[in-house]
Formats: sequence, C-alpha cells, structure tokens
Amino acid sequence: MGPFIAYWLRWPSMEALMGTDWGWSLCEILHFAGLALLVGIVGMFDLRLLGMVKAVPVAPFRRFLPWAVVGFVLCVVSGLSFVTGLGANLEGVHPYSVLISNLWLQLKLLFIALAGLNLLAFYLTGMSSAVDNLGPGDEAPFAAKVIAATSLSLWIGVIWVGRLIPWGL
Ligand code: HEM
Repeated sequence: MGPFIAYWLRWPSMEALMGTDWGWSLCEILHFAGLALLVGIVGMFDLRLLGMVKAVPVAPFRRFLPWAVVGFVLCVVSGLSFVTGLGANLEGVHPYSVLISNLWLQLKLLFIALAGLNLLAFYLTGMSSAVDNLGPGDEAPFAAKVIAATSLSLWIGVIWVGRLIPWGL
C-alpha cells in the first residue's frame, strides 16, 4: 500500500507550481479562506446548538452551510497542494515520508475524519431534522449539543495541529 500512496503523493507539476514565488502563498490564502468559511460557519451553527444567541432560530444558520462545504473543498485542495508540492520547499523530502513521520499532519487528518463521522452521526441519529425547527429561545436536544461540542473541539483541534505541521517537518 505504501508504494502506491508514495507514487500518488508526488506530483512534479505541483512541485513546479509550489516552487514559484506565488504558489505557496496562493495556497496559504486559499487555506485560510477555506478555514474561515468552514470553521466560521460550522462554528456559528455549533454555538447556536450549544445555546448561544438563542434569540436566533436555527434555520438561518443552515442557509450558510453550503458555503462551509465550499470552505472544506478549498482546504482539502490547498492542503493537498501543500503536501504534494512539499518537494519544492524541502529539497529531496518525499511527501510520503512526511505523511508517515509528521505526527501533527497525522493527527490533523484523524481529526478531519472524526469530524466527518461526527457529521454522519448528526444526520443518522435524526438530530439534523430535530434541530431544523428550533425557533427563537428553543433549546437543542442534549444529543445535538454533544455533537455540536464534539464538532467545535475537533475543528479547533484541526487548526491547532495544522499550525504545528511545519514544526514536525
Ligand atoms: C479541512 C479543513 C482544514 C483546516 C481547517 C486546516 C487548517 C490549517 C491551519 C490553520 C494551518 C496553519 C496555517 C499556517 O498558519 O501556516 C494549516 C496548515 C497546513 N495544512 Fe491544513 N487545514 C485543513 C485541511 C488540510 C488538509 C486536508 C491537508 C492535507 C491533505 C492540510 C495540510 C496542511 C499543511 C501541510 C499545512 C502546513 C502549511 C505550512 O507549512 O504553512 N490541511 N491548515
């Protein structure tokens, strides 16, 4: 499996892009824009379920969620660009060796996967439809609050270990 992943993680064209004066900073800009959309919107939704700004019903927050998906896609595309283009900044370092040695990158991918499972639980437990009609002043069910708190903690964790990745290189 290792050689297969190692083969697909090294993109000479991405190294060429990331080796330009503007390549890496463009991906940093996209990564920040993505995390602002994703964590900003999901974070607001989670805080409402946890009982903040209770005067506002849940439905308006839901309308922003498609932009959180745009943010997620921006983070994944720019994040993959960082990893596959790593050779441009770290001469002779193969992205696969970073994937198997950088604890912060591993923890980050684990937190992102757990955030995905948590989102799945939000829909499979029926909590998604249960919070749909929460109006002004309404309290979310306890299970929805647990899912919201887990989501918030995992995305803050992604940001924290994301910041530490360069320290593990
Ligand atoms: C999906 C949500 C994601 C969020 C919220 C996120 C967040 C962050 C943050 C806050 C940083 C620190 C930026 C800095 O200060 O330089 C970062 C860096 C980084 N992220 Fe992500 N990230 C996400 C997805 C990904 C994915 C999917 C990958 C890889 C496949 C990835 C790879 C990286 C790398 C390699 C860095 C270090 C870049 C550098 O050297 O500055 N990220 N990320």
